[in-house]
Amino acid sequence: MPGRTGAGRVEGLDPLQWLRYRCAATGLRLRLARMPPTGAEPTGLGAGALMEPVVGGQDRSRAGGGTAGRLLALLAVVLVALVVIVVALTRFGGLEVVDQQFYSHISPATGKAEDIQFLYRLIFWLALVVFVGVQTAIVYTALKFRRRNETRPPQIHGNRTAEIAWTVIPAVVLLALFIPTAQTIFKHAAAEETADFEIDVLGKQWWWEFQYPGIPLSETDAAAGPLVTANEIMIPQGANVVFNLHSNNVIHSFWVPQLSGKRDVIPGHENRLQFTADKVGEYFGECTEFCGSAHAWMRFKVLVVPPPEFAAWVQAMRQPPAVDGNPETADVVEAPPAFGVCLACHRVNGTNAVIAQQGINSNPYGEGAGPNLSLLACRDTIAAGLLENTPENLARWLKETDDVKDGTYMPNYYEQGTINDQQVQELVDYLMTLKPAGGCPADPPVGGDPAFVPGQQTDDRALPQNQPIAVAPAAETQARAAVEGS
Ligand code: CUA
Repeated sequence: MPGRTGAGRVEGLDPLQWLRYRCAATGLRLRLARMPPTGAEPTGLGAGALMEPVVGGQDRSRAGGGTAGRLLALLAVVLVALVVIVVALTRFGGLEVVDQQFYSHISPATGKAEDIQFLYRLIFWLALVVFVGVQTAIVYTALKFRRRNETRPPQIHGNRTAEIAWTVIPAVVLLALFIPTAQTIFKHAAAEETADFEIDVLGKQWWWEFQYPGIPLSETDAAAGPLVTANEIMIPQGANVVFNLHSNNVIHSFWVPQLSGKRDVIPGHENRLQFTADKVGEYFGECTEFCGSAHAWMRFKVLVVPPPEFAAWVQAMRQPPAVDGNPETADVVEAPPAFGVCLACHRVNGTNAVIAQQGINSNPYGEGAGPNLSLLACRDTIAAGLLENTPENLARWLKETDDVKDGTYMPNYYEQGTINDQQVQELVDYLMTLKPAGGCPADPPVGGDPAFVPGQQTDDRALPQNQPIAVAPAAETQARAAVEGS
């Protein structure tokens, strides 16, 4: 393959030639250009040699082979080290720490999440092979075929072997990804059709409402509607659950990484998501579509419990709160009068607090529609996973509402002067009584644990992971207090 002759070069300088010319003119040297070809007469080390044309095109030297060899060896070492590090950092390397990622899909706890995990691994390893291959080829080519002289290298435009190779190899890689992906999609789409349990999910700003359309709130009064809870979903172990995802405000996205993939929650359109959780456990979910100022504080939990515990929870949800230890006489009248300001937006099952809106027809922007507070004392967190559910945090939530969760639709009645410190304390005391007469059930283990034996754990309210975020005491509140106090 002949190169261009020197005669062609002198007619005009291409940019590289121009650069070399400039370098030469200013006394700089291009290092590669200075390397003499092995076994050939040095073409000179001066500025003039840089511009010297090379005729014939076969003068492809092997200069600097030692340097290239060392660089290639170094590259190989770096790539192998990278692969080793990546393997060590993934769970395939068996590192315990990665198994504790409860907000990550790399700790799957359902068959569906495992199928997704398999696809993830497949894509990861194929991508790693492609990455290492491409990087190696680039560096090898750049070193081995670097420009040593003015000879034009052989041109392979239209080379049939190369064209076939770089068409067939990517096609095979894509096919290896496409076939198992399509199989997984159809397998789980089919599982949606055989649901034995449905839950209506309503994404709100910024919390979650969960309705159980198949479970009436009252066994005698159909007009009471379905069982409703908020921010913590209880599901029976082993049930094929389909979630119907609704929104009447903005787009949210429903994701429990350990249990399934994510799916958008779209106004005016019902999406469905299915999984069967076989492992008893507590799994963390979150909204993964930006939906406003408190989007990051729109967390929830899925509690997978054995069927008997689920049935017990349903019964407890139907009962009035055992405020005085006697479910028969408990009523909202046992709530402190200050609870009156809460009734407009919050319901408590079995009491007169039933005027708050619920469901898809509720006010899209939170006015008159807040989380159902039944069995609130048994929830781990308040404010949609933002604060641990303690008396101190409940008081703080009531008194520093906006500072705790910027943008929340819950009015700060304390700051408005509607309720005072004593009334806040009464409300906190009342809210902490919203639990079954026999106490709250034990929390299933975070992240799922097959060794869990129901009924043998105590509910210590411990949150080993998913620590609620500690919100710094709001400087704004303090500043405001200082101004008002002065
Ligand atoms: Cu809802 Cu982000």
